[in-house]
Amino acid sequence: MAPIDPHSFTDSTHPLTTHISLNFYFDFTTSTIASSALLTLSAPYTGDLVLDTRSLTINSVIDPVTNSQIPFSLSTDVDPIKGQPLTVSVSNISKILITFVTSVTSSALQWLTPPQTFNKKFPFVYTQCQSIHARSIFPCQDTPTPRVRYNAKLNIPHQLSAVMSAKHLERRDPILGCGDSGLCCGESLWCGEGRIVEEFVMEQPIPTYLFAFAVGELGFREVGPRTKVYAEAVPSVLDAAAKEFAGTEDMIRVGERLFGEYDWERFDLLVLPPSFPYGGMENPRMVFLTPTVIKGDASGAQVVAHELAHSWTGNLITNKTNDHFWLNEGFTTYAERRIVEAVQGEDIAALNIGIGWKGLVDEMERFKDNLELTKLRTNQEGVDPDDVYSQVPYEKGFQFLWRIERQIGRAAFDEFLLKYIAAFKFQSIDTNMFLDFLKANVPGIENDIDLKTWTEGTGIPADAMEPVSNIYTKIVSLAHEFKQGRMPREEEVASWHGQQWELYLENLPNSVESSQVIALDCRYRLSESKDYEVKVAFLQLAIVSRCSEYYNVVEKTLKEVGRMKYLRPLYTALVQGNTKKEEDKIFAQRVFAEARETYHPIAQGVVESILSKHL
Ligand code: BES
Ligand code: ZN
Repeated sequence: MAPIDPHSFTDSTHPLTTHISLNFYFDFTTSTIASSALLTLSAPYTGDLVLDTRSLTINSVIDPVTNSQIPFSLSTDVDPIKGQPLTVSVSNISKILITFVTSVTSSALQWLTPPQTFNKKFPFVYTQCQSIHARSIFPCQDTPTPRVRYNAKLNIPHQLSAVMSAKHLERRDPILGCGDSGLCCGESLWCGEGRIVEEFVMEQPIPTYLFAFAVGELGFREVGPRTKVYAEAVPSVLDAAAKEFAGTEDMIRVGERLFGEYDWERFDLLVLPPSFPYGGMENPRMVFLTPTVIKGDASGAQVVAHELAHSWTGNLITNKTNDHFWLNEGFTTYAERRIVEAVQGEDIAALNIGIGWKGLVDEMERFKDNLELTKLRTNQEGVDPDDVYSQVPYEKGFQFLWRIERQIGRAAFDEFLLKYIAAFKFQSIDTNMFLDFLKANVPGIENDIDLKTWTEGTGIPADAMEPVSNIYTKIVSLAHEFKQGRMPREEEVASWHGQQWELYLENLPNSVESSQVIALDCRYRLSESKDYEVKVAFLQLAIVSRCSEYYNVVEKTLKEVGRMKYLRPLYTALVQGNTKKEEDKIFAQRVFAEARETYHPIAQGVVESILSKHL
């Protein structure tokens, strides 16, 4: 008996789930889903089987073959990270039917009321399962080792439609009786009037964190032979999204050339409401995106390149547990930059590497008292993955792979990548499996690169590297000159877009005079930027430099977006530091209290943890 993942109750002696059949009845009046899940195990099992759950009410556990009740117990002991283990006591069976209801606090789900949507007419609900939130939607072995196929029937109000990280089969009227419930007959709510059923199937096996749906008043635009962009059915939003992502097919082709065939058939995009907590989430066949990536200059392509790259690194080859998260994000960051380089050129790729480098250097400061979190391979026993989310797996992982590329040359590294993906596709692997494969395919690599220091050591290895490019170097040196009162001249910034400004702002010295910050904004209007990367980088500087005149913009920003990449630095800047003024902390608390309901539950938890650390 041993757990296979620090974030799951799944035990090494248990058979793994291979298929899940789901029925969901969405009740927007209570913000809950009455559901059933039919789990198929890899082999018949006798004994206690433990499933992960969080915030679920379990109604029954049934053997679907004999239709008899299976004894079960839902632990009353709630683990703050892992949730509540559900133990079912089975006897020689391989299928288990569970009926249950989600709760308003289910951490994967955000329920939006009509006023919280663009059109203000209908409610909206969507999921975010990575890393360990799928268990708050259905009981499962919520760890990336078991790969499951699934089908799902979503019973929703007829004015709405649904999308999933799966193939859409049909939209139809509910079948009267118990046909769509998986529950017993007579549940009139399953057959009610004004309802519609959307059916999906996922034929490729995926880890549970890639399970996803969204339900709302959705529309779409076609942008390529295998890509539609979905969003709330507002023509201006759909048009802007279609324009921003027009180059998607070109990127898929680059991905195929570099990493092998695209295995997921479709690559659709869903633009979510502003509360979406991430920039993007690589849900297979249907990537989820924040609306803040739509900037009108196609720069959102970088986030799409990243989520697209996950189609190979992450979704085909998956980290076995979060301890090996760098295998997902480090590889994907590397792959993203290769795609960006191919479609936008070397200078833009170098800029991204430079922004990433600064991010990595800053994380070393953030984790100086917890060096464990600066390692590529981590030990997350007792650690909530949402609390320790950082740039380290992305940027140190990127640096490691870039280092190998420099060692063996691009042609050899490209060949290695193709081989690696082909060898491990549809498998979940750990750092050692990667290292063994590397050593077997690149003989002698361990003599040239200190693989142990890279994967197990803390900090940034000495053979990591800042990018070399003229614009990158120019922007960084301009930023360093700011301290001497030198502001960039108009002609120097004439060609700058969001990423150049972001790099510039992030490289400014830590403490600058508030008068300088104000002068910079007077000239370049950064606090009014439509690009949130720029706006937030500027506001962070404004807070640290004590420019109180920007607090109304800070408040407005914290209330209009829920992307954690923006919430984290702004709330942190407000509350962190020994000399921090009391007013700032009170301000942060008030804004959070007022904005809280508009954030996704995951973002609520993360902001809470930032505030509780410093107040
Ligand atoms: N898979 C991540 C998002 C994620 C990570 C969700 C960990 C939950 C837990 C996604 O691919 C990602 O990295 N998104 C980035 C995009 C960026 C690197 C271009 C983001 O959201 O900022
Ligand atoms: Zn990613």
